[in-house]
Amino acid sequence: MSKKRVGILTSGGDCPGLNAILYAVLKYAGSLNWDVYGIANGTDGFIDVALGRIDPEDMRIDEHSFDIPGQKGMGVLLFLSGSVLGCRGKKQREPQEDELICQGYQKIQLDVLIAIGGDGSLEIISELAQKGNWNLVAIPKTIDNDVPGTERVVGFDTAVEVVSDALYNLTFTAASHDRIMLVQVMGRDAGHLALSAGIAGGADVILLPELVPVINERIVRETCLKIAHIREHKRKFALIVVAEGVQGENQNEPSAEYFKRQLQQYSHLHNSAGTTGFYGLGEKIEIRVTILGHLTRSNRPTASDRLLATAFGIKAIEVIAREKENFQRMVILQEGQIRDRPLAEVMSQLKSAKSSSACASPVDPDGFIVQVARALGIYLGD
Ligand code: F6P
Repeated sequence: MSKKRVGILTSGGDCPGLNAILYAVLKYAGSLNWDVYGIANGTDGFIDVALGRIDPEDMRIDEHSFDIPGQKGMGVLLFLSGSVLGCRGKKQREPQEDELICQGYQKIQLDVLIAIGGDGSLEIISELAQKGNWNLVAIPKTIDNDVPGTERVVGFDTAVEVVSDALYNLTFTAASHDRIMLVQVMGRDAGHLALSAGIAGGADVILLPELVPVINERIVRETCLKIAHIREHKRKFALIVVAEGVQGENQNEPSAEYFKRQLQQYSHLHNSAGTTGFYGLGEKIEIRVTILGHLTRSNRPTASDRLLATAFGIKAIEVIAREKENFQRMVILQEGQIRDRPLAEVMSQLKSAKSSSACASPVDPDGFIVQVARALGIYLGD
């Protein structure tokens, strides 16, 4: 097999497992005696090369490039969160920058690029690859799990673990104070993270953008009734999960804060009037909001994410070894197997979703995970 020059970059938001992909790529490519070039900060790294700010030969990396001093070959990349290559690339590019990016790619004389990204960044890189006629292997990652064409992406499992751990950790303080804990979870316009973590973390109410795009009066009333039922028959505290994609009153306020206000107003009104009976007359509902935000992105990747990340990394090298010329593929998980498919298929799904401002890979309202939540008696707001 001929020696290859492989570029690798991480783009879009970071997530746990990016460095584990790099770990696998460097090990396997190194064993084949291929050269790997680490492109810093997404496609911005190509601009630096084009403008002569970086010498391509200084970008060569191997499995020892990130060793801790004095700990040669310890394999820390497998466990490190974030991205040692950086993800700071600009989100919006000027048209003339595309030209520079393509020049940078040419200057390094790459045979192929491995791009680790989410839906937005992979779309941009796929367009660049077509413009520059690059060979490309995409590796999907994001805590949102919303890349079409694959059953799972790198980073999601860790995020589910973090959010469900947070729910567990909030349970005991909630129980000690008989409080309602309202947790807002990342995920952009997809509810996968809120749903999976909410179920695994024992939530009583989970609101997802796919089922509940906007919080309305009915949802507020039914949530209060759900809490009332729990308080009467089970316990005095409750856990509510709201995906960040669910809309409140306006975009400047986190939806969890809006939901809290609405729940308080409703319960106050009805308790003062003594019409609900779920709190003592005049008793105030105590709600505390936790917005997990970027905490969700930075944990040590779980074993399952490390396994997926390394399997995707190895598969990417296999695809490069197998394909001849003019290929743009994405590695995927399908029916428990690591496979690859044409990136164009994934892009057409993304584009048609974008044209209707929809999420490209939303939670299936009739899918089994939603059924699980319903069967457990979790209120989903629909
Ligand atoms: O797409 C990943 C994600 O973490 C979303 O869940 C979240 O809405 C967004 O990125 C946050 O982006 P930023 O890091 O730019 O604030």
